[in-house]
Amino acid sequence: MAFLKLQNVDKYYGKLHAIKGVNLEIENGEFIVFVGPSGCGKSTLLRMIAGLEVINGGELILDGKDITTTPSAQRDLAMVFQSYALYPHMTVEDNMSFALRLAKVDPAEIQEKVEKAAEKLDLTAYLKRTPKMLSGGQRQRVAIGRAIVRSPKVFLFDEPLSNLDAALRGQTRVEIAELHRELGATTVYVTHDQVEAMTLADRVVVLRDGIIEQVGTPLDLYDHPKNRFVSQFIGMPQMNLLPADFLPAVAEGSAEVGIRPEHMKAVGAEGAALSGVVELVESLGNETLIHMKIAGKHQIIVRQYVRTELKIGDTVGVEFDASRVHRFDSEGLAL
Ligand SMILES: Nc1ncnc2c1ncn2[C@@H]1O[C@H](COP(=O)(O)OP(=O)(O)O)[C@@H](O)[C@H]1O
Ligand SMILES: [Mg+2]
Repeated sequence: MAFLKLQNVDKYYGKLHAIKGVNLEIENGEFIVFVGPSGCGKSTLLRMIAGLEVINGGELILDGKDITTTPSAQRDLAMVFQSYALYPHMTVEDNMSFALRLAKVDPAEIQEKVEKAAEKLDLTAYLKRTPKMLSGGQRQRVAIGRAIVRSPKVFLFDEPLSNLDAALRGQTRVEIAELHRELGATTVYVTHDQVEAMTLADRVVVLRDGIIEQVGTPLDLYDHPKNRFVSQFIGMPQMNLLPADFLPAVAEGSAEVGIRPEHMKAVGAEGAALSGVVELVESLGNETLIHMKIAGKHQIIVRQYVRTELKIGDTVGVEFDASRVHRFDSEGLAL
């Protein structure tokens, strides 16, 4: 039986149907990531689980209990926000222990829990400081600590790393992964960043316009996108798409053919399946991205792990791995 179950869940903001009959089953201990473009309903869905938004239709079941209308404070969930939402006048210690003090937990137990969480999060030296005396990364760790001490049934994260700079984002991402491994707690994590989704998730849920487009393991989504939207959302640079008539040999009744940049190779123009003109060469050291235009209008990117002598304006051929071709029909569904 699923630990957390969303059954035909609906959300309306006035006339806007923000969440459209979502069904999802999350197992105990799973790390689930909601990903999708801005405005697709990720935060809304998470906030509905948290009890911060009313559920207009359907059911939410946690550990066998219907919590659809249960007040947030009684749901046994803890949420971590992008904005940290710490009390500015309270010390780290008081921020972390706040919910437990409110719940009248024994002070000795509170202290033990706070100390343990602080140690896990490298915050022991900062317990007496207020949030303004901390870096962004430390503040976010306090917010995570505040969630940990409550030992909730489910951790909910809404874009927790978005306010951090790139280096810190990478580091905190690794820490969150380690924390999940250690605590084994069921986690639902919202991000618009597909690298976070791919690296953290047991399963990724791709959302668009209030519906689930696909649920799967990160590599399942990468290797077998169900439709054009998922194929374009997962993978950086995006999967190349070309009208079927450019690749008749592999198109087999499709409208469009998709090939990931790393499954293509720049070769001599003579006799190649495709040819194009180089528009940009991005030499990243470990890899080279060759941007080219096919027939003057279709942009594709070829990724290779050897450096290139190619220059803007050169005409090149393209070869590809026929076994890695994706085919989409005129509706954008994978064939
Ligand atoms: N409180 C609200 N009132 C009205 N519309 C809202 C509210 N919150 C979100 N929305 C709308 O619902 C949709 C989903 O928003 P949201 O869940 O915040 O998206 P995401 O987190 O994926 O960026 C958007 O169209 C957004 O404008
Ligand atoms: Mg959001």
